[in-house]
Amino acid sequence: MLIRTICGRGRRILVFVYLFAAATLGAHAGADIDQRVDHLLAEMTLNEKVGQMTQVDSDALANREDDVRKYFLGSVLSGGNSDPPGGDNSAQSWLKFATHFESLARQTRLKVPLLYGIDAVHGHNNIDGAVIFPHNIGIGAADDPRLVEREEQVTADEIAGTGINWAFAPCLAVARNECWGRTYESFSDDPALDSRLGAAAVAGFQGGQLSENATSILACAKHFMGDGGTMDGIDQGNTICDEATLRRLFLPPYRAAIRAGVGSIMVSYNSWNGQKMSGNEYLLTEVLKKELGFRGFLVSDWAAIDQLGPGYQTDVEKSINAGMDMVMIPYGPDQPNNYLEFIRDLKELVAEGKVSQTRIDDAVRRILRVKFQMGLFDRPIAVDPALTAAIGSPEHRAVACQAVRESLVLMKNKDHVLPLSKTIKRLTVVGAAANDLGMQCGGWTISWQGSHGKVTHGGTTILDGIRRIISPKAQVTFSADGSNLEDPDAVIVVVGESPYAEMKGDRTNLDLSVSDRALIARAKSAGAPVVTILISGRPLNLNSAWDDSDAFVAAWLPGTEGEGVADVLFGDAPFAGKLPRPWPGLFPDGFGLFYSPAAENRKVATSW
Ligand code: GLC
Repeated sequence: MLIRTICGRGRRILVFVYLFAAATLGAHAGADIDQRVDHLLAEMTLNEKVGQMTQVDSDALANREDDVRKYFLGSVLSGGNSDPPGGDNSAQSWLKFATHFESLARQTRLKVPLLYGIDAVHGHNNIDGAVIFPHNIGIGAADDPRLVEREEQVTADEIAGTGINWAFAPCLAVARNECWGRTYESFSDDPALDSRLGAAAVAGFQGGQLSENATSILACAKHFMGDGGTMDGIDQGNTICDEATLRRLFLPPYRAAIRAGVGSIMVSYNSWNGQKMSGNEYLLTEVLKKELGFRGFLVSDWAAIDQLGPGYQTDVEKSINAGMDMVMIPYGPDQPNNYLEFIRDLKELVAEGKVSQTRIDDAVRRILRVKFQMGLFDRPIAVDPALTAAIGSPEHRAVACQAVRESLVLMKNKDHVLPLSKTIKRLTVVGAAANDLGMQCGGWTISWQGSHGKVTHGGTTILDGIRRIISPKAQVTFSADGSNLEDPDAVIVVVGESPYAEMKGDRTNLDLSVSDRALIARAKSAGAPVVTILISGRPLNLNSAWDDSDAFVAAWLPGTEGEGVADVLFGDAPFAGKLPRPWPGLFPDGFGLFYSPAAENRKVATSW
């Protein structure tokens, strides 16, 4: 009894000692970082400080050898269309490209390491052969935080495999109008769902808290704030609402991301009641930094400060004084509002007292603190070849395939036509979208706008998946135009939207195209059950397509693992998805049919 008591008390004492030590070490590490930041900051010249606040697109650099060193740049990014020389998008090419810039930064006087940023918004989507996950609208339909964290761990590993250390993700937009071209980048129209998935994404990218681990990738919650609430869904438009509504709809995901330890936040293009976010000191400084206690740094969007006006130096003055810490500049010396102009203007503003040294020091302190938290000063630039080799691996694709399965929403299943039998005799598949990897992936895939066809190496189309899963005795025929509709036992029709990104995807009419509706009607005329699969970045008005379909599946933008769609169509996995946003004229948030009641609340058990 005595021993047990001593042991019991001993165990409690041990637990207390451990917790005290952990807290002390943690606090010590934090204090240590703050001391290291203050010490370095005290060494820095104004040129070196302004350089840290300057982020330049790789395509804009006038001299890729000199400018990182010469201007002490804090960050380089590659925007959606900015590729390594010659457009070589292989992992090795990106690895060489990114680590070269990072090595140049280490040659400066104080050797402040570089943050290299890229839009890895559904996998490491600029890299040929990388796994492309479903876009966020499908991830929102799955609503599986554990899977989201695993997805972003995989993405972080693939990013680290190319020597890059900053992802401009997760997008926390609460999209309120499907006319917006970025609806698919938003998990949902529900701030609570966006909050839980956004926090999971930050944890996945950063590996819990930011650390010196090579696969701890800096996450970037974006775009703060109200990007999804603009009038008529116009991209970069005006979000008109009172402050209570703004806080209720658009602030919760950032509160959750900050609690999850997000190291950077990207400021949005949109306005709130007519004031551009990039110049909104109340929201950027009073709310985000003071009220919510955000200690990371704010980065502008692509040339977003240029919209403040009336001239570029006032753009710089307004945005930096509002609380912007780093400015994303896509223009080189041959264009206006370029990075040399930014550097010159900001130094002049400091000299004239229009931007205080205190504001400069606050911005640089925030940037340096993140770099120290990531261990970049001590982390070698060299990348573990195993990480590079794992890009596009079967293990990574298995995670994406699971995300596809869980993202699908069954909206109609007349006479239980689904699941289809693998031993069906004659299955007809129609629609170009059934065999189009680029369409499955959507925008932000290899290029900014994405493209049709074999857009990347690896992956499977929906048709590939059907052919792999069905019995060899089954006769499967495919045509893009429905010219193969002779006496089928069932028809699968795959239709949807061509790839787009940002404002290029803004629409005023959300009708499913006339040609898609006609193809579904033609399938219906064959007299067999019709299963319609919609590939889209948002709900669309289905009109006649709804009545002509016996079963209807919203597949969103599933990415490279199209075989996950076939797995569910043929019953190897259950439907698990629920609408992450209302379907106009049909169903509310949360609607979804399942193969069995038990499936409704059970995420698919799988070995991924
Ligand atoms: C774009 C997007 C933003 C992206 C940035 C860099 O315009 O608004 O989401 O991260 O530019 O590509």
